[in-house]
Amino acid sequence: MDKFLIKGPSKVKGIVNISGSKNAALPILASTILFDKPVILENLPRVKDIDTMINLLKSLGSKIEFFGNKKTVKISKTNKTKYLASYYSVKTMRAGVLVLGPMIAKYHKSITSFPGGCVLNGKSGRPINFHLNALKKLGMKYEIKKGYIFAKSKGKLKGNLIKFPKISVGATENLIMAACFAIGKTVLKNCAIEPEIKDLVNFLRSAGAKIKWVGKRTCEIIGVNSLKETKYSVMGDRIEAGTFCIASTLTKGDLLIKNFNPKIIQTELNFLKKVGAKIDIFKNQIHIKGPKKIKSINNILTKEYPGFPTDLQAQFMVLLCRADGRSTITEKIFQSRFIHVMELQRLGAKINIKNNKAIIEGNRKFIGAELMSSDLRASAALVLAAMAAKDKSIISRVYHIDRGYERIEKKLKKIGVNIRRIS
Ligand code: EPU
Repeated sequence: MDKFLIKGPSKVKGIVNISGSKNAALPILASTILFDKPVILENLPRVKDIDTMINLLKSLGSKIEFFGNKKTVKISKTNKTKYLASYYSVKTMRAGVLVLGPMIAKYHKSITSFPGGCVLNGKSGRPINFHLNALKKLGMKYEIKKGYIFAKSKGKLKGNLIKFPKISVGATENLIMAACFAIGKTVLKNCAIEPEIKDLVNFLRSAGAKIKWVGKRTCEIIGVNSLKETKYSVMGDRIEAGTFCIASTLTKGDLLIKNFNPKIIQTELNFLKKVGAKIDIFKNQIHIKGPKKIKSINNILTKEYPGFPTDLQAQFMVLLCRADGRSTITEKIFQSRFIHVMELQRLGAKINIKNNKAIIEGNRKFIGAELMSSDLRASAALVLAAMAAKDKSIISRVYHIDRGYERIEKKLKKIGVNIRRIS
């Protein structure tokens, strides 16, 4: 298993090119199950989760052809369709469950393993009840046996009015995909409106799907019989962009961050300005400089978009450890997404957790240590912390970070970080 060796403290300077968004590419890839005609996707991020989804599509019978730098892929249908998303295909990735909606819509049957993915929610796990209950309302019947969802429908799904009990990114995506072929009209209320969902909708629309937003969180879908050939470029990754913004703010850095839409990280940029970062916003890039002194912040709440993203909570916590006073972060999406705290304490952080609230003491000096990654975003936080620490840190289990950040050590090296991957 690979490790990162990082020698700090670092000061980042230069240009970073943001890769395609993992969380946009995953549902878009899953939705290609709906197509008979070929689809070309550009700006795919070369990360492990994308490989996992591509392998899952292959196992379901799709033909995959990569071009050039493997960021462009052509996905075509073969006559070897399979209906089983096996445990081995989805055990490492939560997004595996996103093939359920398209498979039911297209083939009216599916056997899908319960998905795996980052452990973010302690004992309550990461249920998929919203996906299953909503698909049931479109006419899907299912049984759960031996860790698999055995699902079927009597012919086409039928449009319905569905109000999600709580906002869920994955459930919104699964239902949008399933409703594309449902008879008549489906209205989804209380939808997640993350930019990645808008990207999925834009992709499906480019192929002729009839989807429109009729209110802030209400989406209306009129079923169609088929989707046409399309070519689409995946949006830039807002969480990767946010992580590099934090790197610059944390290390008194000076970064030009390119290839993403700054408008979709307004909330994060406002918080970074509050802690003292100097930010100039352009069309598809931002210039961000870190302050001499980082200011503390009281009560950041992670929330559904357009709120502060849970996927940047761990990274922002590192920044607040170095602020000039006490800060707090309350985690409202995954109540116990704080596994990184124990590892940050090894470097010298002082953080107390009370229920879903982290109380972060500022002015901490970090000294390098041996650290272990526990999940994707937590690993990014450890990399940032090691960059800010004096001396050497070794971070193990970096396969977590490889799931969602493309060649992070190469990008960091280019902006002056002393980082090395060791096997
Ligand atoms: N929930 C349920 N039942 C469900 C679905 C969700 O109780 O059927 C709960 C979850 O346990 C959680 C909340 O609802 O407390 C929100 O979960 P959501 O369904 O929105 O999350 P997700 O679809 O599983 C996606 C991202 C996550 C990101 C969350 C929140 C992908 C592939 N994953 O997960 O990204 O944290 O939305 O924004 O898009 C990551 O990239 O590191 C990552 C974990």
